Amino acid sequence: MWLPKILVFSALVGVACCKQNFPPGFKFGAATAAYQVEGAWNVSDKSESIWDVFTHDHPEAIIDRSTGDVACDSYHQWQRDVEIASELGLHFYRFSIAWTRLLPNGFSNYVSEDGKEYYSNLIDALLEKGIEPVVTLYHFDLPQSLQNLGGWTNPLIANWFGEYARVAFSLYGDRVKTWLTINEPIVYCQVSYSTGIHAPGIVSPDFGSLMCSKNAVLAHAKAWRIYDEEFRQKYQGKVSLANLLFWFEPEDENEQEATDLVQQLWSGVYTHPIFSKDGGWPPELEKKLAEKSRQQGYTGSKLPPFTQEEKELVGGTYDFFGLNFYTARTARKAQAGEKVGPWPFIGAPDLDVVMSVRPDWKPQASQLFFSYPRALRLQLSWVKQQYGDIDIFILENGFVGYDADLNDQDRVNFYRDHLEQVLLSIKEDGVKVVGYTAWSMIDNYEWSDGYRSKFGLYAVDFADPQRARRPRASAQYYARVIKQHSLDVHDTNKLTDELY
Ligand code: NOJ
Repeated sequence: MWLPKILVFSALVGVACCKQNFPPGFKFGAATAAYQVEGAWNVSDKSESIWDVFTHDHPEAIIDRSTGDVACDSYHQWQRDVEIASELGLHFYRFSIAWTRLLPNGFSNYVSEDGKEYYSNLIDALLEKGIEPVVTLYHFDLPQSLQNLGGWTNPLIANWFGEYARVAFSLYGDRVKTWLTINEPIVYCQVSYSTGIHAPGIVSPDFGSLMCSKNAVLAHAKAWRIYDEEFRQKYQGKVSLANLLFWFEPEDENEQEATDLVQQLWSGVYTHPIFSKDGGWPPELEKKLAEKSRQQGYTGSKLPPFTQEEKELVGGTYDFFGLNFYTARTARKAQAGEKVGPWPFIGAPDLDVVMSVRPDWKPQASQLFFSYPRALRLQLSWVKQQYGDIDIFILENGFVGYDADLNDQDRVNFYRDHLEQVLLSIKEDGVKVVGYTAWSMIDNYEWSDGYRSKFGLYAVDFADPQRARRPRASAQYYARVIKQHSLDVHDTNKLTDELY
């Protein structure tokens, strides 16, 4: 009789243990971006980016009047960053190339030797430690020289970006197998041009915002096609873009239409043309914006149409779906005469939609971010339902605090709760989530929030000339999850000091 009992017992243990396990091959990483960590803004032949110019000319636009001139000094401290990636046991490290460091003119006629070497060394050092480099080509830091020509509102940007991408693919494609063309076009187009709170500080909510959006989609597509035609066979890599999706849900059961519309303005603009079967702009949104533009007395829609040729250029230009995920909003139709907006955080005036949050979503330090872990699972299912059973790579997810404390229990809980939802998505909903990226590996420069907002698994001492980095409790937690490939890492309140 003792044998069956043992079998039952081990079966139960097996079920308990493996429910929390990630599938074999699931990858864990952490991310940063060039302007947010590198510093060395004017070292060697690097030219100015729009963020260099914006922070120097408009200190009042940044909460603590700081700049990214030194940031985490990763230009000099990159070996420490690689060490950290290795301490965490990361499978991959996501970082971005500063366009101005590699191509100081913005154009591909001149490639900086120092820029070339900097990224080459970083890539080699990661690979030596068995860490895969995941590289973003554009993370908000446009060369000012190209901004002077209209930047993302000039349709020629698609070619300029394509040339830049070609240089990066040819220099590093032998070693980099996962590329992100552009990061969060919603932020550098719609947030930036609607509010002016991001570089280049231009406010043009009607036209700038959506011209930029169209050109961003085209630029991504050009770069993807260049990889596909010139590099794929040789290097066998994968290319996509990193889209920031907010989860939107109806304020009550009558508000599904308002919710779908706002989701399409936020996400669909950068996903429908690329991932949907039909291509082009999300049809309902296109109709609504055309109508609104007419009401406002414009002769054409402020959402610039795609030609058939452009639609075909863009359609299907992905190898996986790249998702940055942080938070959620509710949506409802505005009442007659109700003031709506501003877009994109409080409401969508063009759609007459009001956005809010639910009382049980936990506010983080910044008013932008509310924790609602289940939203990640819902969002992953939304992607599958909209675009089919494709690989989804979570490229950012993280928690903001204003506190530099190393004992960041809130962040530990955030990661645990969100990773739980990832597991449910994979195991219960059958969504193909292939990887997860913590934002961020280290505290860094949070754009117009300067150094106040802290996202790091490691704290950075910005008063120290060496920018010393020290692991938080969340670093220990994440390292354990990675090591055990499981969420079954016991009591997170009792983390030992193994990383200290
Ligand atoms: C997304 C952006 O890609 C990154 O630059 C930023 O720091 C994080 N979100 C947090 O806001």
